[in-house]
This record gives sequence, C-alpha cells and structure tokens, in this order.
Amino acid sequence: MTPKEHHPWVPKSDNGYSNLASHDTWVAGTPYATLQRLRDEDPVAWVDEVDGSGFWAITRYADVVEINRRWEDFTSYQGIRLEEMDDEETQARRTMMELDPPDHTRLRRLVNRGFTRQTVESYEEPIRKLTADILTPALALGEFDFVSEVARVLPMRMLGRLLGVPDGHAEQLVDWGDQLLSNTDPEYTDHVVDQVDTDEFRLIPFRSPAGLEVFRYAQEAAVQRRGCPSDDVISRLLAPTSDGEPLSDLQFNNFFALLVAAGNDTTRYSLTEGLRALVDHPKQMQVLREEPTIINTAVEEILRWTTVTTHFRRTATSDQELHGRTIRAGDKVVLWWASANYDERKFDDPYNFDLRREPNDHVAFGRNGPHLCLGAWLARMEIRITLQELLAQTNNIEVLRVSDRLRSNLISGTKHLTVRVT
Ligand code: HEM
Repeated sequence: MTPKEHHPWVPKSDNGYSNLASHDTWVAGTPYATLQRLRDEDPVAWVDEVDGSGFWAITRYADVVEINRRWEDFTSYQGIRLEEMDDEETQARRTMMELDPPDHTRLRRLVNRGFTRQTVESYEEPIRKLTADILTPALALGEFDFVSEVARVLPMRMLGRLLGVPDGHAEQLVDWGDQLLSNTDPEYTDHVVDQVDTDEFRLIPFRSPAGLEVFRYAQEAAVQRRGCPSDDVISRLLAPTSDGEPLSDLQFNNFFALLVAAGNDTTRYSLTEGLRALVDHPKQMQVLREEPTIINTAVEEILRWTTVTTHFRRTATSDQELHGRTIRAGDKVVLWWASANYDERKFDDPYNFDLRREPNDHVAFGRNGPHLCLGAWLARMEIRITLQELLAQTNNIEVLRVSDRLRSNLISGTKHLTVRVT
C-alpha cells in the first residue's frame, strides 16, 4: 500500500498507537493516524480498558455499516457506550438507544413524526429568524468565542421549538445537557465519572446529578402537557405506544434526558469544527460564498469531516469471525464512525475537505441500522441555516484561537473558538 498523507488535524501526539479508550487521548484531537493504521493493519483490533474490560475496535467503513445493520448479532441491550454497567444500572438508565427492534421500534415511533424532514423543514422560517437573532449581536462584537455566543446557544433553542420548551429554558437545558454528555470533562461537571466516586448516581443518566434535575423538569413538563396537550414532541411522548400503553414515568424521564443530551453538543461541535474547517480551507469557503447552491453537499461534507460522535458500542450475541479474528458472544464491539468516515476504501481522497463531494454516504448519523440519528434532519437544517446566515452577514472570518478540546472519547470537538469577523 502506498503511504498516504494524514488528516491535516492529526494531533502531534498521535504516533499511530494512541489509546482510543482514554478520554485524554481525544483532548489533543481525533487520533486520525491511529485510526488509519488500524484500518490498514488491524481492522478488528482488541483494545484493553483500564477497568479490566476491553473491546473490539471496528474501523473500516464496510464492517461498521454491516455490524450496525445486524442488530440481532450485535445487540444494543447491554449498552451503547464503553462504560460497563451492571444489570440494575442498565435497566434503570435504559433509553430507546439501548433497545433492539421490536422494543426499540415501539418507542421510536412515538417521536419519529416530530423529526421527519418534512416536519423539521416546516420550522425553517422561525428557525432562520432565531438564528439571525443569535448571530447578529454576536457578529456585531467583531471578535468573539463562536462556541459560547452561537454554537452552544442555537441547538437547544432550535430543539426546544420541536420539544415545545420555552426559549427561556434553553440555557438551563444546555447546562444540564453538558453535564450529562460531557460527564468526563472537568470544565462541565464536578462529577467526572472516571475521576471521582459517582456511585450515588449510578442509576441516573450519565451518573450525573444533573440527571435528577432533568427528571424533575421532565415531570413538570408532563404534568403541564397532561392538562393541556399539544402537537409538540413532549406531548407525543406521553401518548400511548403502539401496544396501547403509555411510557412509565421512568421511561418518559429517560427519553427526555436522551433528547436533551443527544440534541445539545453534537450539533454545537459540528458547527464549530465545520467553521474551523472552512476557515482552514479558504478556497472551499470561497466556493461556498460564490456558489451558495452547493450548501446541501457542503453540509454533508462538514458532517463527514467533523464526525462529532466518534463511536457507539454493541455487544456480540454469538461467536463471529471477522478478518481472521474471533469475536466471542458477550464481547464489546465498537463501531468507530470517526474512522469509517475517512476510510479510503469508501471515500476518494478522504483527507480532502471537498464541499462538492458526491456521493457522500458518511456515517456521522449512523447508517442502515435501526438507531439512525433521530435528529439528523434537524442537525442538517441547523448547520445549513447557520452557515447561510453567517456567510450572508460577513465578508471574512478568521480564527484567532482554537481552545482545548472536550475530554471525551465519545464526543469530539473544540470547546472554544475565538473568531474575528468583518
Ligand atoms: C450533527 C449532529 C448530530 C450527530 C453527529 C449525531 C449522531 C448520532 C449517531 C451517530 C447516532 C447513532 C446512530 C446509530 O447507532 O446507528 C445518533 C442517534 C440519535 N440521535 Fe443524533 N446526532 C446529531 C444530532 C442530533 C440531534 C439534534 C438530536 C435531537 C433530538 C439527536 C438525537 C438522537 C437520538 C434520540 C438518537 C437515538 C436514536 C435511536 O436510538 O433510535 N441527534 N445520533
């Protein structure tokens, strides 16, 4: 095989042998060199974890997509993150993400209609206005942190519109969402799961006290909707499922917490890393300014390039052979979206940021599996509208400072991005 260029953002510390399981590895950036070496040399690689467990790292596109499709052989019931949980924890914290069909389908049907392309696009105008309301004052500052002024604020305000949550509550939900999904980063929580004892919260989402606050909020919202139902997603969650039974309070609370966690920083980091990629590739930025009609392929390329959700885990239900390795029933199997999206077996010149790339069957939202991202159309619209408004209101954007990255092996992104706009 001929030597390939690496990704331009490969961290200096990544010598091809970074520990994928360590949260600290990802502070330096996505370990692209390690992922490439694994794809080329060891596409079903065993990785040890500090707690004594370990997992098979699946890094090639074709394998990731195939395993994700075969949910009967690779189940989600035992969890979708690396974290080891006992039965009681798994049960108490179960959301639809930790279910397989048909149980999964029954829960997902409750909310599917609230997130279809058609439903989401019916919010285009109010969301465009919301974006302008947030962007315009930020741009007037001239120099600002794109994350705290824009990318951190927008996604929850937009999701809030679909959920039926008042704009005024968004900031609090963002804060809770950060404490949940960023439970491995001391900037966002005092309860860093791998550094302090969080046993007291073991039955709460993400072992985080913020989970209790989100549960309380969800219950208040439920009481309100029961008195006065509407067409929003919270009301849909309270309706009976296809078997005629409504969700239990715990199922409802966990579902709400899932939406708050999943819809928060994923889009934030896609926006932030997307803007960083555009500034780093001025010719591409120029193309987008001159040819705004390529916006949809541009959004897909940003999703592929950023691949904010680095992986999800499955568990093998029977022994399986793959590339000469034997995966045993009960083994953890981890699908590295962050690797599959740069697999040169699938994408031509994958380290080239190309806003016209087509086809672009990336796996930033999963692919071919039952858990394909519920918020995919919302996230696409958020990125599209933000870029359109940002480019329409600026002539030039510079990045002055790229801050630390999130300490998380699950979500990859830059926590602050200081920009200057003219
Ligand atoms: C760019 C932003 C986003 C990225 C990169 C992303 C990524 C993903 C990925 C990779 C999955 C798992 C797919 C699989 O296992 O096959 C997923 C599932 C999910 N996402 Fe997203 N997501 C994003 C935005 C959102 C938003 C805005 C929401 C808002 C509600 C959301 C809600 C969900 C939910 C609820 C699931 C679980 C679906 C299921 O289990 O059926 N996501 N997302």
